[in-house]
Amino acid sequence: MADPERAGSTRSLRAMERILAAKGLRVLPDAPADETSEENPGDREWHRRARADYALNRWRSATPPRFSEAEATIPEVIGWADRTLTDNAAAGALLLTGLTGTGKTHQAFGALRRIAASGPDRFELIAMNSADMYGNLRPSQVMGAAERELRRLSEVQYLFLDDLGTAKTSEWTEEVTYRLINHRYNHCLPTLITSNLPARDENGPDLTGFVGARVASRLAEMVTTLVPMVGADRRRGGRAA
Ligand SMILES: Nc1ncnc2c1ncn2[C@@H]1O[C@H](COP(=O)(O)OP(=O)(O)O)[C@@H](O)[C@H]1O
Ligand SMILES: [Mg+2]
Repeated sequence: MADPERAGSTRSLRAMERILAAKGLRVLPDAPADETSEENPGDREWHRRARADYALNRWRSATPPRFSEAEATIPEVIGWADRTLTDNAAAGALLLTGLTGTGKTHQAFGALRRIAASGPDRFELIAMNSADMYGNLRPSQVMGAAERELRRLSEVQYLFLDDLGTAKTSEWTEEVTYRLINHRYNHCLPTLITSNLPARDENGPDLTGFVGARVASRLAEMVTTLVPMVGADRRRGGRAA
């Protein structure tokens, strides 16, 4: 302990404890080893915790109750989340593929929770199922609403697009996906994507086929971490490998 006054008072406290202990009395519980204060706003740890509380609140409001306990357990997913903290612009996209029930959505929300819990400087998140997204982006009666929604999804710091590839494709879905992904690609914004389709499959439907060649080429560069999930359907009581 560097502070001489503090060291002195600790010594006299210990001496008093010894005297009382000799009489069979005990005054104070053991002092905590870590003396970071809970209440001192000048403390760095206090600030980090305040940022984490704020970010976790945002995470909670963007996360459906089923995933409120989600935790990233796959090393590649943890690694991606941690990279967004050290260099947000270099993190690129995390793509989780695999059959339904293998835990893709759980890992993605878990990654976002990990990011929030570390107390980042900024934390904005939109999490959306891709079928809902295409629904929201359809031109509506309200002038400019779909364009505003596309801008919101394109510009948000973290976008989690769940179940890409389940909607029916059309020229319109391709165009919308292109505008969204192209913007996030150009602005180096971290994006999480899950899909039931494999990234590539020569013999069957794949994500490349769904999104179209222009988006596929952006994705190929953006995706820094591809995690093919395996295992049984957890919803049917199976256990992922
Ligand atoms: N690592 C895990 N620990 C506990 N529950 C999990 C885990 N992974 C997934 N689950 C649960 O299993 C179910 C299926 O997972 P989910 O992420 O929805 O799969 P997918 O998105 O691949 O269809 C969900 O109810 C989810 O909460
Ligand atoms: Mg899912």
